[in-house]
Amino acid sequence: MLKVPSGACILNARRSGTVIPAFNIPYLPMMQPVVAALRDADSFGFIAVARLEWIKFESRSMRAVFEEYQRTKDERFTRLHLDHVPVIDEDDIRVDFEAVIEEALRTGYDSVMVDGSRLTLEENIRATKAIVEIAHRTGTPVEGELGAVLGHESGPLPLYEELYSTGRGFTDPDQAKRFAGETGVDWLSVAVGNVHGAISAVSRRKEKVEARLNIPRLRRIRQMTAVPLVLHGGTGIRKEYLKDAFQSGIAKINIATAIRQPYEENIAKSVAVAQQAVYDSALRLLTEELDLRGSRRTINPEFS
Ligand code: 13P
Repeated sequence: MLKVPSGACILNARRSGTVIPAFNIPYLPMMQPVVAALRDADSFGFIAVARLEWIKFESRSMRAVFEEYQRTKDERFTRLHLDHVPVIDEDDIRVDFEAVIEEALRTGYDSVMVDGSRLTLEENIRATKAIVEIAHRTGTPVEGELGAVLGHESGPLPLYEELYSTGRGFTDPDQAKRFAGETGVDWLSVAVGNVHGAISAVSRRKEKVEARLNIPRLRRIRQMTAVPLVLHGGTGIRKEYLKDAFQSGIAKINIATAIRQPYEENIAKSVAVAQQAVYDSALRLLTEELDLRGSRRTINPEFS
């Protein structure tokens, strides 16, 4: 059976008004229960790792995540995605992003993300375009980010209400049109009120704020660009916003905090207990929050 490429899966999700959840794996033992939850809910999802998760957490390396994925994957339900490779990282350090992404392409990741959101628009366009040129040689889809989904930075964050009311970092629809057109990016991560769960050592255990989404702005971005849109910071957004977002161009939602915190809260008991907590959270998200039971049938129909 031919493997349906990740790009086609995302287009299937967008066409049918559903979404592909991308679950981040900051600890390798989290992967197996996430794959099991996807299979048990008959849902389709991405297994994802961001650079900061092998640097600041315990997913060890891009290669280690790939190898764990080879052991646990079920391609009826899963693909492997490289999340955030920043050009400038959350600690303001410049990253050799091209080398990291080239390694992912050689290793066999199904899709990659370049995050130029801490750059000027022109620099972000240049960096994203360079990655698109490299990745498209192997037919690999590229996700870029325009606007800034805050939350991963180590310094103090603005209060959420202030952030939302000022629209700080929100994606500009006209810039989105230019960005998508000039870079040729396949998927676009947008900022419309969504924020990442904090990952700094002092705040990573705190409960995440409940974020809202500016749906009219999301719709304007969709009107200006033809590409599927991505919602980072997927933990803790109210269900009615999510439903509207999936009808307004969001075809991929990234989820980290909602499955990481249950793992961290239970790991002192045993790995098996922590894995069960991840499974329970992932299954609840898929079936109750995101309503994705059976989504595999529209997203990866060749396996029906
Ligand atoms: P949350 O931690 O808020 O779920 O965000 C995850 C994310 O966007 C990873 O890229």
